[in-house]
Amino acid sequence: MGNIVTFLTACISLLFVASTTAPAAADDLTERGAYLVNTVMACGNCHTPMGPQGPDMSRALSGGLEFDTPGFHVTASNLTPHDTGLGSWSDEEIKRALVEGRRPDGSALAPIMPTSFYKVLTPRDLDAIVAYLRTLPPVDRKVPAPEYAGDPPPAFPGAEAPIAEEDQGADPVRKGFYLVTIAHCMECHTDWEADGPPAIGAGGRPLPGPWGVSISANITNDPHAGLGEWTDEEIVRAVTAGVSRDGRALLPPMGYPFYAGISPDDLAAMVAYLRTVPSTH
Ligand code: HEC
Ligand code: HEC
Repeated sequence: MGNIVTFLTACISLLFVASTTAPAAADDLTERGAYLVNTVMACGNCHTPMGPQGPDMSRALSGGLEFDTPGFHVTASNLTPHDTGLGSWSDEEIKRALVEGRRPDGSALAPIMPTSFYKVLTPRDLDAIVAYLRTLPPVDRKVPAPEYAGDPPPAFPGAEAPIAEEDQGADPVRKGFYLVTIAHCMECHTDWEADGPPAIGAGGRPLPGPWGVSISANITNDPHAGLGEWTDEEIVRAVTAGVSRDGRALLPPMGYPFYAGISPDDLAAMVAYLRTVPSTH
């Protein structure tokens, strides 16, 4: 009797192993996509509608903020698998929008969508993002049609091509550059309108919104203007909890609640990279 039970148990565990091998790989991919979309890349900071209490998570990623600027008037799109969202887009079409900034009909996305930072994405991370977006509950929500007639933005310096996983594994600074790039930190932390070549990471960009106008900080390694004298813990606290070195609560639109979910290893790599960003003063 004992032997039969053992035998049956062995068969069941064999079946279990056999039947879970393939889905396990898919689960890993979806999990990686959820991690990227909901923490490092903070897609919901733009693509989730804002309710009176903050982001309305019951309609997560179904379309969000409206951006009305002299160059374009667009609304962050519905990314859920509904007909009013990405339901009819192929995987390749979604990836093309992310790295080339173009829709299936060839029209360009306004440069507020951070496609210039997404060309570094590895093929696996692109697959992961798409796999995760496919698992979202479909939400019926049509956002207003975009008004933009320009081209997609050029690639961010150093982000022209994917950075291979092996290169990231071999060097925390390289991995940190990858993560800081896909988190589009430097988009806000650079004053692109200033005269001369852009001082990457030196901050000074005004960001208006319902909170008033916040001015992005200098996050280079400069000892006075930047993070040069901050401890690693102080930098991590600012990014994940929105608290400055002196204890002041930091203003939006930086996505602190999203970044709070970044893994300790990834945060360490991001800090390692920020330590190498040259002082611009
Ligand atoms: C800074 C805000 C912002 C962030 C962060 C952001 N997006 Fe967008 N995204 C937009 C806006 C705004 C548009 C609409 C642009 C337009 O219509 O020209 C857009 C458009 C898109 C489109 C095109 C959809 C369509 O129907 O045309 C896709 C796909 C997309 N985003 C996916 C993502 C994903 C995935 C992430 C995270 C990895 C992300 N976005 C992060 C603002 C953002
Ligand atoms: C959407 C724009 C935006 C993005 C994206 C963004 N930030 Fe910020 N960040 C800001 C603004 C604005 C402030 C200043 C807020 C204030 O002073 O109240 C700030 C403040 C900070 C501070 C505190 C500096 C200080 O002197 O108090 C650090 C550190 C920081 N950001 C790092 C990062 C990193 C690292 C990333 C990417 C993971 C990032 N930020 C992404 C807009 C942004």
